[in-house]
Amino acid sequence: MILEATSDNIDYCAGLLKQDEVVGIPTETVYGLAGNALRESSVRKIFQTKGRPLIDPLIVHCKDLQAAESIASLNDASRSLAKVFWPGPLTMVVPKSRQVPDLVTAGLDSVAIRVPRHSVFRNLLESVDFPLAAPSANPFGYVSPTSADHVERTLGSKVKAILDGGACKIGLESTIVDLRKPENPIILRYGPISSSQISDHLGFTIGTRLTQNSAANGPQSAPGQLSKHYSPECSVTLLEHGSVASKEFALSHLDDETALVCNKRPNWYAGQRTVYWLSAAGDPDEMARCLFDLLQRLDEKPFKKIYIEQAAEQGLGVAINDRLRRAAAE
Ligand code: TXA
Ligand code: MG
Repeated sequence: MILEATSDNIDYCAGLLKQDEVVGIPTETVYGLAGNALRESSVRKIFQTKGRPLIDPLIVHCKDLQAAESIASLNDASRSLAKVFWPGPLTMVVPKSRQVPDLVTAGLDSVAIRVPRHSVFRNLLESVDFPLAAPSANPFGYVSPTSADHVERTLGSKVKAILDGGACKIGLESTIVDLRKPENPIILRYGPISSSQISDHLGFTIGTRLTQNSAANGPQSAPGQLSKHYSPECSVTLLEHGSVASKEFALSHLDDETALVCNKRPNWYAGQRTVYWLSAAGDPDEMARCLFDLLQRLDEKPFKKIYIEQAAEQGLGVAINDRLRRAAAE
């Protein structure tokens, strides 16, 4: 059930969380499926509700830096990034305290933590006295949700409440950076905060350790991500950035069962029914914000195949292309 984010409804959801229930919640990145991070029964419900394998650890959301320090060991580097980028779309992997159940971290001795910016989520975190574990509120492997309706569509029958905080302002999941070795920060997932923002701030060059190519059996100690992810039901094929500017090339991909998604409204567009774009003007913020919504809307239509133009590989385009590659992975 979708609930308007009134203070009564936030209190009601806080009550559910205190009883170890799980709740759909808005964040500035994507919607999350939240539960008490310090209670195993609650964490178990998150995995069950999503159909997520227990080897894939969760992000723990704290109301502020102090709350984060009580469940994890931050160092100078993570603390200084927290001061600049929290609240916001940056998740840091740091050593965990014993309070955090092994179930949250898939048995790893590190925990991924983030202080979110969305005011509804922050109010909820203020209303409970524990941190909230929250993966994206989608069935495991499917496209992430960026509205309460998306959560309702895929998990509505399994959760008691979904707090409606409007459409997500960013629309892509947080950047994840491993800061266990502060002089050697490693990006585990590209996101809204770029590698160069992090390395400029720290003054260290930054490494990446992104994808595992097959379903690993052990805990996902690296990115905790499988290469196939964020996938709609339709098959997805990527096209090079800029290639769809050619009308002949673009039209050669069109038929009634195939959607073509461009970055921006193509110059040659003349009302073709199966042509879509992420942002009329090709604005990267708008493209990121609309991507997961468009993929879900296309899944509702009788398309079998989606061709998507990749973004320019810079700024947010790096994160957009990462999600596109995962959506297209076999
Ligand atoms: O923006 C976001 O990060 C959203 C919102 C809800 O905050 N959450 C999100 O969670 O995207 P999720 O579960 O879909 O992705 C979290 C990723 C997983 O791939 C997980 O494996 C990785 O973070 N992760 C969690 N703990 C980790 C750890 N200790 N070491 C390495 N990776 C970890
Ligand atoms: Mg996810």
